[in-house]
Amino acid sequence: MNPDSKKLKVAKSSLDYIEHDCVLGVGTGSTVNFLIDLLPDLINKIQAVVSSSDESTKRLEAHGIEVSNLNNIGNIDLYIDGADEATKNLHLIKGGGGALTREKILAANAKEFICIVDDSKIVDRLGKFPLPIEVLPMAQSYIAREIVKMKGQPILRENFITDNGNHILDIHNLDITNPIETETIINQIPGVITVGIFARRPADILLIAEENTIKIITDKD
Ligand code: 5RP
Repeated sequence: MNPDSKKLKVAKSSLDYIEHDCVLGVGTGSTVNFLIDLLPDLINKIQAVVSSSDESTKRLEAHGIEVSNLNNIGNIDLYIDGADEATKNLHLIKGGGGALTREKILAANAKEFICIVDDSKIVDRLGKFPLPIEVLPMAQSYIAREIVKMKGQPILRENFITDNGNHILDIHNLDITNPIETETIINQIPGVITVGIFARRPADILLIAEENTIKIITDKD
């Protein structure tokens, strides 16, 4: 099965979790784009939609789906998003698309967070995918030096400005043996807006598109 067929299949499988009158948070990326394209058929079930990026907002609006401001909504019932890497402990690396800050805000506000991936994203240990960190531009050199002290190799993402007007450092070869600890340490460097480790607030459910099936891993497994 080709990668897009897996993305479509896993996006479809997440629709089963959308309950009547749901406030839905929508992530960002090519997997979530399949989800967005399926939403018009379910729109009567959904009370409100909140988006994690300008890119997803545009796609939702192109389908005639109104996007609400999180400040007017309160809690999100269900947040659905992809990931760049995921472990069986439901820890994630996100931010390949640069939307990690708003994604983390939606995940934090969500009663339930479902992560949809294909099996190429599953790893035993996070960190092969370069870890994205959104940084305040005036602090990027300082933060890069702090990361080098942690034995990571920071590379500034070229010609890229986040929806929030910031820069991204992609960190190569960082040891992320303890994701919660690494997330906490990097969060505390002044000028860091968001680190792309999602371990303090992991996914609740991981849906994985395998060759012939959707594998489900939950925090109860
Ligand atoms: C965007 C993200 C995406 O969820 C992540 O990059 C996965 O994207 P895709 O579904 O295209 O592989 O974190 O910031």
